[in-house]
Amino acid sequence: MNKLKNKVAIVTGASKGIGASIAKYFAAEGAKVVVNYASSKEGADKVVKVITDNGGTAISVQGDVSKEADIIRLFEETKNAFGTLDILVNNAGIYLYAPIEQVSAESIQQHFNINVSGSLLAIREAVKLFGDKGGNIINISSGASNTPLATGSVYSATKAALDAITIALSKELGVKNIRINSILPGGVETEGTHSAGIIGSDFEARLIANTPLGRFGQPEDIAKVAVFLASDDSAWITGEKVTVSGGIYGF
Ligand SMILES: NC(=O)c1ccc[n+]([C@@H]2O[C@H](COP(=O)([O-])OP(=O)(O)OC[C@H]3O[C@@H](n4cnc5c(N)ncnc54)[C@H](OP(=O)(O)O)[C@@H]3O)[C@@H](O)[C@H]2O)c1
Repeated sequence: MNKLKNKVAIVTGASKGIGASIAKYFAAEGAKVVVNYASSKEGADKVVKVITDNGGTAISVQGDVSKEADIIRLFEETKNAFGTLDILVNNAGIYLYAPIEQVSAESIQQHFNINVSGSLLAIREAVKLFGDKGGNIINISSGASNTPLATGSVYSATKAALDAITIALSKELGVKNIRINSILPGGVETEGTHSAGIIGSDFEARLIANTPLGRFGQPEDIAKVAVFLASDDSAWITGEKVTVSGGIYGF
């Protein structure tokens, strides 16, 4: 249980869902974890408590990744608390499925500000804090990048952009000993998919019917792969899009 011993990790959007699970799995492997959140202080503090109750180290730091000043402060607070950074997980993200007739300029802007711009600016700050030793970046993309669905044009566009960033930066940052990979989850049961009405819907049933492994994902299905990509077990992997979806393809 020491695959990330003494590593310092920031997980954005870790107050719930996939991010919360990644934060807990990283801490269980010995990482010191910064649990970022936008508004759910209670959720983030709960994640920190689970980690510290199990003997791990974590702090929660508020910061809206759609705001550059908040991102800069998130990295400053990480430096103040732990002195350095080894791993960044860009997990904070929003997903709204809507027919094109209902898509607003504000919604497009918000999706790109959080899912794309937030990830880019966080990577910029991470590269500075990694320093000469290098580091590791994981972008939580989506199967919606490779397999866009009807009503998902905006969301899929943001995740395809994120995957392009992964590939471009793998070529740019390898020389600095920085690895960067995308994880593309299939449908995962989270607070977000519950509140979006996906869990229990016909849409979820159709997704499961098209999933060879016959079930929706759980956050820990993603967190375990994140541990692999953050650890030396994947030392020669960079610029990859790793699909974690129970085998769903071409739905
Ligand atoms: N669940 C799925 O089926 C699925 C499938 C493929 C990909 N993904 C991707 O996985 C990631 C997590 O999804 P999820 O289902 O776990 O989401 P979730 O349950 O809705 O949780 C979202 C997390 O992101 C945070 N967040 C939202 N906007 C933020 C912002 N502007 N700044 C900082 N944090 C922000 C939230 O913090 P607050 O609570 O404080 O707002 C929360 O911690 C997303 O990038 C999503 O696109 C999810």
